[in-house]
Amino acid sequence: MSYRSHTIRLVMIIGALVAVFALVRSFLIPESFGTYGHYRGANLAEQMEMPLVHMESAFCMDCHQEQHTDWRSGNHRTVNCEVCHGHWEIHNGNLKTMTAVKGNDACLLCHQALTGRPASLSQVKSLALHLAEKEKSGTDAQTCVECHDPHTTLSE
Ligand code: HEC
Ligand code: HEC
Ligand code: HEC
Ligand code: HEC
Repeated sequence: MSYRSHTIRLVMIIGALVAVFALVRSFLIPESFGTYGHYRGANLAEQMEMPLVHMESAFCMDCHQEQHTDWRSGNHRTVNCEVCHGHWEIHNGNLKTMTAVKGNDACLLCHQALTGRPASLSQVKSLALHLAEKEKSGTDAQTCVECHDPHTTLSE
């Protein structure tokens, strides 16, 4: 018994599948695929056109020299401007929208005393205790930034 006709049929089916695959592939693979490597080349240009969202602190220096100088020399030099002020995108082309987060929660986010927090990060248990410790009080003492410059962190 010969297997010839079976084999030829099988080879033809495989050949047809390969042809269909090649055809479908040519429709599905984007034109710029492979221009630079194993990915869609046009994606690079698309990424570059996207609006800038985040900027490093040095970028803010051009327009906010004074704050940058204070910040650079203070304890907060490891905390980027954007952490407290929001990301650059909201500021870009709409300068009045950039604000500072002045509420105590913004400071306590990092400085609230927590069991798991490393001792190298200075912490306060509560505003009332903190004021008692520093022997300070009065109506000017309701927010952290009444006493602490947020950029230098020095107390006034
Ligand atoms: C191209 C210049 C420019 C750059 C760059 C810039 N700013 Fe500004 N920023 C301004 C101007 C102009 C104002 C509006 C000042 C006003 O309304 O009196 C402003 C306002 C602000 C305010 C509000 C000030 C206030 O008195 O309430 C903050 C906070 C601020 N910018 C932070 C930043 C941070 C953080 C960055 C970096 C991510 C940055 N800016 C980058 C020009 C700039
Ligand atoms: C730890 C949080 C924090 C960081 C980090 C920080 N800021 Fe501020 N910034 C504040 C707060 C809070 C105020 C509002 C102070 C007030 O009203 O007394 C402020 C105010 C400002 C203002 C308004 C004018 C002024 O001096 O009050 C500008 C402009 C500004 N910051 C820019 C910057 C830039 C630029 C950087 C980075 C180089 C930066 N800030 C880093 C919290 C921060
Ligand atoms: C993203 C985290 C973060 C936020 C938000 C933040 N800080 Fe800090 N702060 C730090 C780090 C990090 C240091 C440097 C390490 C240290 O001294 O604890 C520091 C240092 C300080 C110091 C100096 C501590 C010392 O031992 O002399 C003061 C004061 C301070 N911050 C106050 C504030 C105030 C006020 C705010 C709110 C406007 C604030 N911080 C918001 C992270 C933060
Ligand atoms: C009435 C003024 C006043 C207020 C309000 C105030 N502080 Fe202080 N704080 C001080 C003084 C004074 C010191 C000690 C001197 C210094 O480090 O500059 C200090 C020190 C610190 C320190 C350094 C660690 C320590 O205990 O000495 C941190 C962190 C701190 N404050 C965070 C805060 C936070 C967060 C707030 C808001 C919840 C706040 N402070 C509100 C006056 C104040």
